[in-house]
Amino acid sequence: MFQHNIYGLFSMPTLETPRLILRRITMKDAPAVFEYSRDEEVARHVLWTAQRHISEAKDYCRYMMRRYKADEPSSWGIILKETNTLVGTIGFMSYSEDNNSVEVGYSLARPLWNGGYMTEALSRVIDYAFDAMEINRIEAQHELSNPASGRVMEKCGMTREGVLRQRLFNKGKYVDVALYAILRSDPRPGKKKAGRVY
Ligand SMILES: CC(C)(COP(=O)(O)OP(=O)(O)OC[C@H]1O[C@@H](n2cnc3c(N)ncnc32)[C@H](O)[C@@H]1OP(=O)(O)O)[C@@H](O)C(=O)NCCC(=O)NCCS
Repeated sequence: MFQHNIYGLFSMPTLETPRLILRRITMKDAPAVFEYSRDEEVARHVLWTAQRHISEAKDYCRYMMRRYKADEPSSWGIILKETNTLVGTIGFMSYSEDNNSVEVGYSLARPLWNGGYMTEALSRVIDYAFDAMEINRIEAQHELSNPASGRVMEKCGMTREGVLRQRLFNKGKYVDVALYAILRSDPRPGKKKAGRVY
């Protein structure tokens, strides 16, 4: 088992990028979560279905808060600095302690797509996972029919390792997914040699 030298691996501290703040989700975020999670297009390639009622967004926020408390893999809310609104989430879907690896996942409100926001958020999360959490391998997967997500992974320096045929049964059909990963020893776009200090 890998011995991490920090206490509380999923402490999820606030992180910053030029245009975004990544911070823990609170109950006050439920209306903003509902706003983008009710969009069928946002939900099309993720493993949850579009929310139909604000109560589902409240349940999600409550669930995330429980996970923070239990130090379990969880997500940050993505806050657009310009408007101070929550516009998506990014975080850890799973953690393998034995292998010192995590899987990341994310979603963003549709009006902001293709503005480079998720690439900005994922790059920050990758830096944090390697430099502060001392994770060795970060994985992400996307449905082949969702190439924009693969492009985000690519732009963040992740390598496409292969296609897993019909790996998921999502929204009534089996779907093929591409698996991406980046290792701590891999080059990171725009990253200087020395690790960042947190
Ligand atoms: C996938 C998602 C996170 C991308 O976020 P984003 O902020 O739009 O991503 P970015 O702007 O950083 O990068 C998107 C890239 O995909 C490219 N892209 C968009 N549509 C594409 C398509 N149909 N085919 C190929 N590339 C595409 C964009 O051109 C851009 O690449 P570029 O900078 O080289 O031009 C966002 O669309 C989203 O939240 N979708 C719904 C939830 C989801 O699918 N989550 C991921 C599950 S694996």
